[in-house]
Amino acid sequence: MIQVRKAVIPAAGLGTRFLPATKAIPKEMIPIVDVPMIQYIVEEAVASGITDIILITARHKEAIENHFDYNYELEDSLDKKQKSDLAEISRRVGNLCNLVAIRQKSPMGLGHAVLCAEPVVGNEPFAVLLGDDLIDNPARPCTRQLIEVYERERASVVGVMEVPAADVSKYGIVGGKMTGHGLMEVDHLVEKPRPEAAPSRFAIPGRYVLSPAIFSCLRETKPGKGGEIQLTDGLQLLAQRERLLAFQYEGTRYDTGDRLGFIDATLAFALRRPELASGVRELMKKHLGGL
Ligand code: UTP
Repeated sequence: MIQVRKAVIPAAGLGTRFLPATKAIPKEMIPIVDVPMIQYIVEEAVASGITDIILITARHKEAIENHFDYNYELEDSLDKKQKSDLAEISRRVGNLCNLVAIRQKSPMGLGHAVLCAEPVVGNEPFAVLLGDDLIDNPARPCTRQLIEVYERERASVVGVMEVPAADVSKYGIVGGKMTGHGLMEVDHLVEKPRPEAAPSRFAIPGRYVLSPAIFSCLRETKPGKGGEIQLTDGLQLLAQRERLLAFQYEGTRYDTGDRLGFIDATLAFALRRPELASGVRELMKKHLGGL
């Protein structure tokens, strides 16, 4: 069986919810504490056994590629100033993975972004991790959990989480039969349904392990919600042609593409840093004092 060693990270969106920050800076480079959000995603992929990252990018987003390269001038100057520990922090990021960048020439949707990766993925299974969705589980990274399901069941799998009925309209939602151990045999999917039309409350936040058959499905997918080629619609076609599973992963998800989700992640990650935790607690007390 072919091992899952490639991951596609779509990061070509406009990031309009973060304007004006995203006017000149890619949303994915905005830091959670001092690490750009996309680095957490790449680290999850690498900790899950992925060796090759295919970044779907766009004009004015070169900063992402530069981040995962060496920066000789910076590293050399830090070494000369006896700050080799800082130089090492920079070099370590450059050594994380092999990275191939592909331009999505216009933001035609997540499904279209994934289709852009076909020439590099070829005919093998691959993971997809959204560039602005953080799923935290240091012991068992979410993508690792999905790869294990893929290898055991030999079927494409989407990671899902249960959301309140009021929130189903924010996500792609799966429908099908639960078979135990957090698994569902998916028979249909709906992108951002109204609560009364949702087939379940299991939402796809942004982790997938897919068979290469998804590419022909995406080629046949017409623009859907918002006039974009939706990955959820491509998956609906895949479910008609092949077995598709949903797996309720273990981990805490932060929607870092949303301002409140971003603040949530910033607080959670800062409180976990030994050198920052007590200072952050003091700041929180100060700001909450009057409440
Ligand atoms: P979002 O819709 O959350 O991201 O897409 P966005 O478009 O960047 O941000 P807003 O909504 O305008 O604030 C989810 C992920 O899919 C990527 C985005 O970069 C993001 O990581 N994406 C989306 C693409 O790569 N291409 C697209 O055409 C659309």
